[in-house]
Amino acid sequence: MNRDQVLKKMRSINNLPTLPIIALEVNRLLQDFDSPLEQLVDLLSKDQSLVLKILRLVNSSFYGFKSKVKSVGHAVTLLGYNTVRNAVITVTVIDTLALKKELPEFKIEAFWKHAIQVAVLSRYLGVKTRLALPEDAFTAGLLHDIGKVVLADFFPAELIAILRAAGQDGLAFYDAELKLCSCPHNLIGAYLAQQWMLPETLNQAIQYHHSASEQASRSSLVVVVNTANNLAHMMNGEKGYQLQLDRKPEVIRAVIAEALKSGVNWYSEVKKEVDAVWSFLNKG
Ligand SMILES: [Fe+2]
Ligand SMILES: [Fe+2]
Repeated sequence: MNRDQVLKKMRSINNLPTLPIIALEVNRLLQDFDSPLEQLVDLLSKDQSLVLKILRLVNSSFYGFKSKVKSVGHAVTLLGYNTVRNAVITVTVIDTLALKKELPEFKIEAFWKHAIQVAVLSRYLGVKTRLALPEDAFTAGLLHDIGKVVLADFFPAELIAILRAAGQDGLAFYDAELKLCSCPHNLIGAYLAQQWMLPETLNQAIQYHHSASEQASRSSLVVVVNTANNLAHMMNGEKGYQLQLDRKPEVIRAVIAEALKSGVNWYSEVKKEVDAVWSFLNKG
């Protein structure tokens, strides 16, 4: 199914998950970095439960800011638009997708654990390679597979067929989608990202996270998320995934080589952080 066919199919669904209006307004406002600061603060202040969640996230160890942020105004001036935008996206997308249906073959908990693993690995690569801002990398890693939630919700028979084909033939999920000519989850995710007015670089990371050959011309955030995703699957011993390091920038190859050298230690550090993010988000 090509992109146009996917879009047609998606447009025919009239109850796709949607972000709260306020998040859409924030995303629209932040498409223009010249928007006055007060406008953003006023907008966010209308939703105090969102404000509390944002403050909790930006004060968490994952954002790594030393001083305590006490208000949205403070958050915007101290942390900047980009950080606040990442926090709004993270908080609202998790709320929107957390309670979706699940299938015996597709557990939402396993979905989020993988998403968090890719988020943590993406941020690690962002910090080490400086190819992407750590928060952008974390958010993109967390959201890269959101299309799968739509598959589970609206196309469960297709999703089950893909998972079976992947299991039987030892294929990556995306390769099984291609084999079955089904609607690929990266395009579904990119469609959602567009509907939700997420930043263009984030949309691209979602759309191209499986396209190793196309990434050279794309943003470096795509390369980071693609590497983190394959690494996450390989760490979990899944078949059909490769790092394809020969197609990656030198700086990625160097960081991966260094990480793999410390093997078990590095793996347990990553795992510890994934568990910490998981328990933090679960308490949300
Ligand atoms: Fe994926
Ligand atoms: Fe993935």
